[in-house]
Amino acid sequence: MTDVLDSSPNPDTRDNDADAGATWWRQATVYQIYPRSFSDANGDGIGDLTGITSRVPYLKQLGVNAVWLSPFYPSALADGGYDVDDYRDVDPKIGTLDDFDEMIATLHEANIKLIADIVPNHSSDRHVWFQQALAAGKGSPERERYIFRDGLGENGEIPPSDWISMFGGPAWSRVEDGQWYLHLFAKEQPDFNWKNPEVHEDFLKTLRFWSDRGVDGFRVDVAHGCAKELPDVLPTQAELDATPTTDGKHPIWDRNEVHDIYAEWRQVLDEYDPPRTAVAEAWVDSAERRARYASPNELGQAFNFDLLEADFDAGQFLEIVSTNLAEAQIAGSSTTWVFSNHDVVRHATRYGLPARGGRDVKQGSEWLLSGGTEPELDIATGLRRARAASLFMLGLPGSAYLYQGEELGLGEVADIPADQHQDPAYFHNPGVDPGRDGCRVPLPWTVDGPSFGFGPARAHLPQPEWFGSLSVEAESGDPSSTLNLYRRALALRAELQTAESLEWQGSDARSVLHFRRANGWEVVTNFGPEAIPLPAGEVLVSSGLLDDGTLPGETTVWLRN
Ligand code: NOJ
Repeated sequence: MTDVLDSSPNPDTRDNDADAGATWWRQATVYQIYPRSFSDANGDGIGDLTGITSRVPYLKQLGVNAVWLSPFYPSALADGGYDVDDYRDVDPKIGTLDDFDEMIATLHEANIKLIADIVPNHSSDRHVWFQQALAAGKGSPERERYIFRDGLGENGEIPPSDWISMFGGPAWSRVEDGQWYLHLFAKEQPDFNWKNPEVHEDFLKTLRFWSDRGVDGFRVDVAHGCAKELPDVLPTQAELDATPTTDGKHPIWDRNEVHDIYAEWRQVLDEYDPPRTAVAEAWVDSAERRARYASPNELGQAFNFDLLEADFDAGQFLEIVSTNLAEAQIAGSSTTWVFSNHDVVRHATRYGLPARGGRDVKQGSEWLLSGGTEPELDIATGLRRARAASLFMLGLPGSAYLYQGEELGLGEVADIPADQHQDPAYFHNPGVDPGRDGCRVPLPWTVDGPSFGFGPARAHLPQPEWFGSLSVEAESGDPSSTLNLYRRALALRAELQTAESLEWQGSDARSVLHFRRANGWEVVTNFGPEAIPLPAGEVLVSSGLLDDGTLPGETTVWLRN
């Protein structure tokens, strides 16, 4: 099997320097920071911006090109910060605008870009607009910024439809005067009405506000949900579920008009030099639909969650990589890869659980552990596969998105006590959905201490004893640690990253994938359990110890030929 896949639309976008000008993002390594769980400088148990600033040397040594910062805006944390009170300020619990400026300056000095999370589908119910909407009452222009409806039934006491929110529970909540508002997520997250020009204007203002402060790009939350077309008589949930999401005409998801929003954003992003970049979080039906968000006339990139949803399986990986490189080429974009983020079970744990034949994940819920400890978990297998998968990904063309802690091989914390959970997904489905707190537990920096070096005090989510052995301190001195694997791989990636193309080498696609990049850089992953002969070439790095002339099972090696 020799096949060339080239996702570069033209030679001048084959940028092998991730720092270079306007196209720095095309093959960047982006590190996601969930700010409340990264580093706590002021000792209140919650991570903060000063904590991030203090860890910039760590990020530089790790070798990432950019940080994606999950929401840092004022928020009551009904949904971990994705319930935004004010889009143009910093949550006082985690810092100030001055702290933000210092953080971004320190990142930039270290040659690390900053991508800010932006949440356009909904605000929080504490946002001044929502408060005004409540005060102004029915039929007011203030209510027109959100989606308010009268209820059904004699006294309007029945919600406008039986829709279920993404976290479970009704998607409509009633306000004092009897009207209902739509919230696709928690009740504290009212959905904006994007038919209202004021909403457009305000988001353009927000894009400029952060771009003026030096933000290099935006990660767009629920990008596929903003444009809605809700008929007077609403479909039932069953009808909604049965409506195709492939033709751009679903009442909520991935409507064609949503692209008008991002075309408008692109004009603002292009006012800057270099143009600000953006990446869509868009859970859409097909590669073709996803490509629209990633178009150069819109956001530039879209998350591709295909590897994240796959089993550790050569056939699935082959198909995913081939399809997405081809898709990126059509979009004129570069593809993105991701295994872990703040919404899903960490991949070191996922890969230690029984394979499920490919996964259909929506907001993580279908993967979440069964609650409490996971009897079927094989920790060693999970870590071995996670290291192999990550090293495979870091060799691919396109951008790699890493989630804080994956460079330590951190696993999911499955035994958070019931009274310490924070995630709305947990509370809406008690006993069914363990929620997403298990991947949001604050990072261990030192072997011991009250919060393993996260800060001087206890952390806001409980850290298990085993965190110490996976701390930055413990792993820094161990040449075979996951941290040193990532450091070595990222340093090599910076040196080797080349044209956005790969050539599959003759390999047994059932258990081995072998590809070659333009400059003789080769990546071989043995997905099977048995060792295979090591292909020829200078060994650059491997995810596990290589036995005498062989590549062990569930191991990746980078070679130079
Ligand atoms: C996607 C975010 O990643 C998730 O954490 C959040 O709960 C939802 N969007 C709603 O904003």
